Amino acid sequence: MTSRAALTDAAYLAASILFVLGLRSLTLPDRARRGMQLAAIGMLLAIAGTLLKREIVSYGWILAGLALGAGIGWPLGTRVPMTAMPQRIAISHMFGAVAATLVGVAEFWHAGRGAAVAQVQMVALGLEVLFGSLTVTGSFLAFGKLQGLLPARPLTFPGQNLLSLSLLGGGLGLFGWLVVAPAHPAAFLAMVGLGLAFGISLVLPIGGADMPVVISLLNSYAGLASAATGFAIGNEVLIIAGALDGASGFLLSLVMSRAMNRPFRNVLFGAFGAAPPPGAEAGAARPVRSITVEDAALQLAFARLVIVVPGYGLAVAQAQHQVRELAQLVERNGGTVLFAIHPVAGRMPGHMNVLLAEADVPYDRLKEMDEINPEFERADVALVIGANDVVNPAARSDRGSPISGMPILDVDRARQVIVLKRSMAPGFAGVENELFHGERTAMLFGDARETLAALVQAMRQA
Ligand code: TAP
Repeated sequence: MTSRAALTDAAYLAASILFVLGLRSLTLPDRARRGMQLAAIGMLLAIAGTLLKREIVSYGWILAGLALGAGIGWPLGTRVPMTAMPQRIAISHMFGAVAATLVGVAEFWHAGRGAAVAQVQMVALGLEVLFGSLTVTGSFLAFGKLQGLLPARPLTFPGQNLLSLSLLGGGLGLFGWLVVAPAHPAAFLAMVGLGLAFGISLVLPIGGADMPVVISLLNSYAGLASAATGFAIGNEVLIIAGALDGASGFLLSLVMSRAMNRPFRNVLFGAFGAAPPPGAEAGAARPVRSITVEDAALQLAFARLVIVVPGYGLAVAQAQHQVRELAQLVERNGGTVLFAIHPVAGRMPGHMNVLLAEADVPYDRLKEMDEINPEFERADVALVIGANDVVNPAARSDRGSPISGMPILDVDRARQVIVLKRSMAPGFAGVENELFHGERTAMLFGDARETLAALVQAMRQA
């Protein structure tokens, strides 16, 4: 073995260890940042090790690719706000999947359009382009839904599942045929086409509220495509990184679909719940009771137990510091403040934990959904800040709702509910929220940050 090859192997080994340690650290909130840094160093080593490889014939294109990638990646990493993370991740998956698919097609073409492809290599190439192509379109569609370019509601039509199964079956059929007889370029391209079409039919019927599960599933597919690429081109670190990505993404999808109370097969095929019945979507004018900042401050000043429910709106408004100040004031008055954390509140797993940790809210005040739900009955005030879908009782009571069956925070069981948001606009799933019309609910309209600052002011003066 040459010293160059030994260096590459050493870099790959170190990178693989760093990837595993990085993933491990992500399981603990206080070590998550360190985990990301370890994984980033691992990726740098993997790239450096690859650049030492003898197979590289020209560095020109690689440098151009690095410059282009850095030119796109740097602003994506530094400018995109935390609240837009899911769509950023979706588009990153798409880029990765485009790369895997193109490598697969190029490998097939360079091997005499399949004529010089061995059967084992065809298995790897087939998996690479199938997983890659469905991830390209699936991720692009998910990006469109999350970015609001496409409707977030489930888009369904008669025979949809049959169409999805036919596309998948067709793709797998061609894959099987190509393994037996690889030298069929038209079949290879048709397989890519069916993969692309299957990606669309996979994501189209999935509603906004269930996007988190889909994103992590697409993450897993992108990982599997990378692992298959590793097999196809004989690159060990790609196999390891892809397998880690694929397996962790798959496990995360399972955990999240359990948290959302969705059978996993529904994630793979078909819409979650049905389209909302007429009138259930936002817009129907119904009376609500609204209160002033001073009224809300008075209620909070006398409350013994306040449960704060943070949601996406808190993150958009960046009101975490104001909510911490408010909690301190309630506690100075002798009350207790707990924070109810829903697994998909906000726009990424752990979003609320990260946000509140940033404002130094003590970790022991943050309670997971199962732990906090029995407490709502004895809460004097449930203060909902920029949360909507995660407190929508329709998930419990309306079987026709797109969010039916999704576990929610039982805010409506509190003695008084104050909902802080700017308008009657619906949440991410686009469904109207019965909670806002409840007898014990009062709406406090305004931007979360400004209104919380005013509440803090009013409580100081009370
Ligand atoms: P949402 O249901 O999205 O509701 C957020 C509410 O915040 C909106 O109704 C909005 O009403 C309000 N809001 C927005 N900006 C505000 C501001 N500046 N000040 C005050 N309020 C503001 O949020 P949620 O309850 O956290 O639920 C999350 C949803 O996103 C779920 O459906 C979930 O499935 C989905 N999702 C989650 C993730 C992950 S992994 N967490 C990823 C993708 C999608 P106004 O416009 O009236 O103010």
